[in-house]
Amino acid sequence: MAKKKFAKESATTMTEMVLPNDTNTLNNLMGGRLMHWMDVVAAIAAQKHSNRIVVTASADSISFKQPIALGNVVTLEAKVTRAFNSSMEVFIEVTAEDIPASKKTTTHRAFFTFVAVDQNGKPIEVPEVVPETKEEIELFEGALRRRQLRLVLAKRMKPEDAVELKSIFNMDMPQ
Ligand SMILES: CC(C)(COP(=O)(O)OP(=O)(O)OC[C@H]1O[C@@H](n2cnc3c(N)ncnc32)[C@H](O)[C@@H]1OP(=O)(O)O)[C@@H](O)C(=O)NCCC(=O)NCCS
Repeated sequence: MAKKKFAKESATTMTEMVLPNDTNTLNNLMGGRLMHWMDVVAAIAAQKHSNRIVVTASADSISFKQPIALGNVVTLEAKVTRAFNSSMEVFIEVTAEDIPASKKTTTHRAFFTFVAVDQNGKPIEVPEVVPETKEEIELFEGALRRRQLRLVLAKRMKPEDAVELKSIFNMDMPQ
C-alpha cells in the first residue's frame, strides 16, 4: 500500500433537513432519500481517505426501525473503518433531531463499501487505515469479518475461504 492514513482523516459530517419533497405520504423521510444521503456522505469519506474517484461496491443491509419525521434535522457521520487493496469499508451513523423538542436519536448505522478507481474505472490501491480510538479499533477489527461475509454473499469468495467467519461460527468444531 502506498501509505497509511488515520481513520479520523476521512471523518465527514453532512446535515440535512427533512423537507416535504423528501417524505412519503405519512410525512416521514423516504428510505430511498436517506440511502442517497448515506451514499453521498460515505463516498466523500472514501474520497478523503483515498484521494481518488470512488464507486459504491455494496451497501450492507439497512433496516428502518423508526421513522424520521418531516422537519427533523438529520446528521450523517461517516468514517473509513478499514482499507483493503482497492476497497474501503465506511461506517455511517445517522441521527435525527427534533430541535424544537430538544430530542435527538441515533436512527441508523450502516456499512458501505467503496472502491477507488482510476479514470478508466479500474480499481486502484488505497492507503491503509490507522485506527486510534477504542471505537475505531473495534470497527477496524470487525471489518475483515464483515468483508468476508459480504464477499461470500456476493459470490466473490468461497465460504471455505472465509476463515474469519469460520472462527465466529465454530465451523471447524466437530459435530
Ligand atoms: C466495484 C467494481 C469497481 C469492482 O470491479 P471488479 O472488476 O469486480 O474488480 P475486482 O474484482 O478487482 O474487485 C475490486 C475490489 O472491489 C471489491 N468488491 C467487488 N464487489 C464487491 C462487493 N459486492 N462488495 C464489497 N466489495 C466488493 C473487491 O473485494 C475488491 O476489493 P480489494 O481490492 O480491496 O480486494 C466494479 O464492479 C464496478 O465498477 N461496479 C459498479 C460501481 C458503481 O457504478 N456503483 C454505483 C452503483 S449505481
